[in-house]
Amino acid sequence: MFRFIKNKIKEKLLEHKAKNNWKNWSVYSYKDIFPDRYYNQIKAADELYLPLLPKNAKVLDLGCGDGWFDFKIAPKVAHIDAIDLSEKFIRIAKDSQNVNKIKNINFMVGEVDKNISGDKLYDSVMCMGLFTCILKDSVVNKIINDLTAKLKSEGILFVKDSLNKYQTTYFENGDYAAIYRSETNYRDLFFNIGYELLHEGHLSDKVSEEGGFSGFKIFRKL
Ligand SMILES: C[S@@+](CC[C@H](N)C(=O)[O-])C[C@H]1O[C@@H](n2cnc3c(N)ncnc32)[C@H](O)[C@@H]1O
Repeated sequence: MFRFIKNKIKEKLLEHKAKNNWKNWSVYSYKDIFPDRYYNQIKAADELYLPLLPKNAKVLDLGCGDGWFDFKIAPKVAHIDAIDLSEKFIRIAKDSQNVNKIKNINFMVGEVDKNISGDKLYDSVMCMGLFTCILKDSVVNKIINDLTAKLKSEGILFVKDSLNKYQTTYFENGDYAAIYRSETNYRDLFFNIGYELLHEGHLSDKVSEEGGFSGFKIFRKL
């Protein structure tokens, strides 16, 4: 009984860390941390994702971070609503937006595991790294359910996450925690949810010795 309670507390603490450590980040340069993933993500967007979107597409980005990817795709879509729980990231994103005079992105602070704000329908939803911060499959399932309600029929879902080739692992370092799901566990998240898988692949050039890599999937809502 005691061990059960201890494990539950540990689980809750890890969950809290995985989500909330992001509130303390003030600098985050994906390009510098993971140059291969950065360039491969832009390539996947240009070659696979953007050609699937209609003209004047409206896009919703959940867990947008400092908005670097929104800035890349903004010239090719009509509008982006981008949400992140970190006030610091949203402030950084809004500052870059003002400096670069980009008008078609609306950056907002919000916790998408609680609710996804607004009642608009979108041509596409992106979750780029979001599920790596969400340890519980049941919470991911809720988010997928909520975002599905915001996607038009035939809308495009673009997801990327840090994964593990061999088994689902939990990463913990100081205040930081994350989940690297196995490919099977990750595939199961999107099983039977009413989407057709159009593309999938790796964003990192290499799989690490421990089996870590970054993967993406692009789906069409049926
Ligand atoms: C791995 S980072 C990815 C950031 C960015 N999308 C990218 O590709 O570089 C995950 C982001 O999701 C955000 N996030 C995590 N849990 C969230 C939640 N429940 N609601 C909103 N944002 C969340 C974090 O603050 C962080 O910015």
